[in-house]
Amino acid sequence: MDATREIEVLVRAKYPIVSVVSWEERRVEAAVNEVAKRLGRDVYTWSVTQGMRPTVSRPGTVPKSSNLPGELEALAQVHEAPEFTLFILKDFHPYMKDSRVVRLLRDLAARLRGRSQTLVLISPVLTLPTELEKDLTVMEFPLPTEEDITKQIDDVAAAMKSNPAVDVSLTPENHEALVRSAQGLTADEIESALARSLVEAKKLVVDQIIEEKKQIVRKTGILEFYPSSSNLADVGGHELLKEWLTTRSKSFSDAAREFGIPWPKGILIIGVQGCGKSLVAKAVSTAWNLPMLKLDVGRIFGSLVGQSEENMRRAIRIAESLAPCVLWIDELEKGFAGASGGVSDSGTTARVFSTFLTWMQEKSKPVFLIATGNDVSALPPELLRKGRFDEIFFVDLPGQEERADIFKIHLTKRKRDAKKFKLESLAKATIGFSGAEIEQVVVGALNSAFFDGKELTHKYLQEEAEAQVPLSRMMSEDIEALREWAKLRARPSAKHGQPD
Ligand SMILES: Nc1ncnc2c1ncn2[C@@H]1O[C@H](COP(=O)(O)OP(=O)(O)OP(=O)(O)O)[C@@H](O)[C@H]1O
Ligand SMILES: [Mg+2]
Repeated sequence: MDATREIEVLVRAKYPIVSVVSWEERRVEAAVNEVAKRLGRDVYTWSVTQGMRPTVSRPGTVPKSSNLPGELEALAQVHEAPEFTLFILKDFHPYMKDSRVVRLLRDLAARLRGRSQTLVLISPVLTLPTELEKDLTVMEFPLPTEEDITKQIDDVAAAMKSNPAVDVSLTPENHEALVRSAQGLTADEIESALARSLVEAKKLVVDQIIEEKKQIVRKTGILEFYPSSSNLADVGGHELLKEWLTTRSKSFSDAAREFGIPWPKGILIIGVQGCGKSLVAKAVSTAWNLPMLKLDVGRIFGSLVGQSEENMRRAIRIAESLAPCVLWIDELEKGFAGASGGVSDSGTTARVFSTFLTWMQEKSKPVFLIATGNDVSALPPELLRKGRFDEIFFVDLPGQEERADIFKIHLTKRKRDAKKFKLESLAKATIGFSGAEIEQVVVGALNSAFFDGKELTHKYLQEEAEAQVPLSRMMSEDIEALREWAKLRARPSAKHGQPD
C-alpha cells in the first residue's frame, strides 16, 4: 500500500495519533494534505517556530488562547478544535519526555478517537514513551519509489528543457541508470543531487548522485565506504575459503541470474585472532569488483529509544540502494553481544538485532554480507540458523605451508625477494604463530637490520621468530574451545584441518 493511502486508511479509521518517522517532512505533509483534500478535512500545522497555522486556504495563525508554553498550547488547541480536522505537529519528539505532554496526549487520544480527528506527528526519530504505546500508531514513511523518482527526474528535465545552458536530454539507458542510482535517497537529496549535477556538469549525470550517496553514508556515522585495499593474493593459506569466494566472483551478473544462480547472501568468518579474517573481508570487494560498505555496529545504538532501530533501518536501506555491494560487519559479537538476553538496555539491542535478522532472511537486494568475529560464546544462536549465511567458515592458525606462504607475501610486500630466504625453516620456527604475528616477525627483523645499517638477511628473521612468543601459547584453551565449537558448525577455511 502506498504511504498516502495508508495515511488515508488510518484517518478514516479514526486513529487518534499517528507518529510518522521520516526525514522528509515535505513529502509527509504533502501526503497528509492530499488525504485531507480527498476527505474534505481542514489541516492545521504546528511547528515550534511558527505555532499553529491552517495549512490550506486560509492564511494567518490561530490565535493563542493562553500563556501556556508552545507545545502544551498546541495540544490545547487540538483539544478545542472542531470536528473533521487534521493536525500536523512537526518536530514534537523532544517534548515527549515531559510528563505533562504525555498526559495531555493520552487525554487527547481518548477524545479524538470518537471525533474523526487525527493528530499526525512528524519527526526523523521515534520517541515513544511507554505510557503512549497503546494510543499512538507508528508509521514508517517510505523513501521515494522508482515511480516517484522517475517523475521527479522527468519534472526537472521538463522544467530545464528550454534553458540553453544545460542539456537535460537522456538516453533510455542513462535515464534508467539515473533512476536506479537515486534509489535510497530522499526527495530533497535527489533534488539537490540533480541541481548540483546541472550546475557542475551542465547535464544530469549519475556521478553526482553517487557523490550525494557518499555524503549520506558519511553522515550516518554508522556506515563507511571502504576503499578496496587488498586482494585475495595478499591472503596466505585459506585455500578453501578463497576458492569459495573465487567461484562466486561472477555470481552477481545478470547472466548468473539467467543461469538460475541466486545471489550469494553472505558468509560468517569465525576464527583465531590475527589469522586474516578482516584481511579476507577486505579482499572480497576487490575480487568481486563491488563497492564495500563497513557497518559499525557499536555506533548503531543511539541514545534515544527507537533511534537505534531507525539507524539500523537506514543503514540497511542505504546498503540496499548501493546494491550490488558488499557489507562488512567486523567484530560482529561486540555489537550484538547479549542480543538474546537484552536485559541491560531495555531490549534495544534485541530489537535492533531482530531487525537485522529479519533483513538477512528476507533481503531481496544483492547485498553480500561478510561478518567476522572471534568470540563465539557471545554470538546469539539465532544468527547461526540455516538460511542466514550461505556458509560459516572457521579460520585456524596457519599450518607449516601456509606460514611459509605468509612470510613470502609479507617479504614481497616489503620489496624483498622471497627466494633469498629459507621460508621452510622460518615456517618451522613459527609454529603457533598467527598471520599477524608472522607479519610482526618480518617488521621486527626489518627494524633490527635497519638499525644495524644492514640489509635484511635470513638470520634477522630467524632471530626475531625465536624471540617472539605467540599469543596462541597463552590462549591455547580458548583456541581449543573455538575449534571444538567450529567442528560441528563451520567449514574449515584451509585444507590442513588443524595446524601442526
Ligand atoms: N593469512 C594471512 N595472510 C597474510 N597476511 C595475514 C594473514 N593473516 C593475518 N595477516 C596479517 O595480519 C594482519 C592482521 O590480520 P587480520 O586483521 O585480518 O586478523 P583478524 O583475523 O581479523 O584478527 P582479529 O580477530 O584480531 O580481528 C593482516 O592485515 C595481515 O597483514
Ligand atoms: Mg579482525
